[in-house]
Amino acid sequence: MIPAPKYPYPFIDKVIITEEDIRNRVQTLGELITNDYKDSEKLVLLGLLRGSVMFVTDLMRQIKRPMTMDFMLVSSYSGSSSSGFVRIDSDHKSNINGWDVILIDDIVDTGYTIHTVRRLLQDRKPRSLRTCALLDKVERHKIDIKIDYLGFSIPDYFVVGYGLDLDEKGRNLPYIASVNLEKYKEMYGDG
Ligand code: IMP
Ligand code: MG
Repeated sequence: MIPAPKYPYPFIDKVIITEEDIRNRVQTLGELITNDYKDSEKLVLLGLLRGSVMFVTDLMRQIKRPMTMDFMLVSSYSGSSSSGFVRIDSDHKSNINGWDVILIDDIVDTGYTIHTVRRLLQDRKPRSLRTCALLDKVERHKIDIKIDYLGFSIPDYFVVGYGLDLDEKGRNLPYIASVNLEKYKEMYGDG
């Protein structure tokens, strides 16, 4: 039998956060949220598609409170760089007026995405509004923001896995891995 390749995507450099690390951290975040929202009957997790899907579905299993979920589809990226312009491609369905909203993204880079969506949601008069992200590249922030529920701070790597992609590739990896962008360009060009 031909041995399976070490990584299913040859442009992967190394695993920086393992499945077990993610599982443990997601459990802790779930416990924090369960405790912080113990008096809330109207909690909604609002995930940004598509990168936050794995994170939201794992996190909700660790929240021992009544809750609902909703999603928005937004884009600000082309390839591996942020455009700074945040486009709402598809809005959330449920009315968040009077709800306790946790806005969830996969990763914070410049901060424009989560900041822009947060401002938009604020106008819709939720009872409360907090932010949550699996990853944060703090040194890349271009605006002053702090995530209320953060999984991990990471250095300035481009990463894929656990829902995160590079041009739609790599989302299915169960861990977070850094990308060798040189190798990627050799394989796919500049996009
Ligand atoms: P920001 O608006 O610059 O903070 O970028 C945040 C968005 O860019 C996230 O929703 C991700 O979709 C995407 N993004 C930023 N860095 C990465 C990365 O390293 N891997 C995959 N997606 C990323
Ligand atoms: Mg995104």
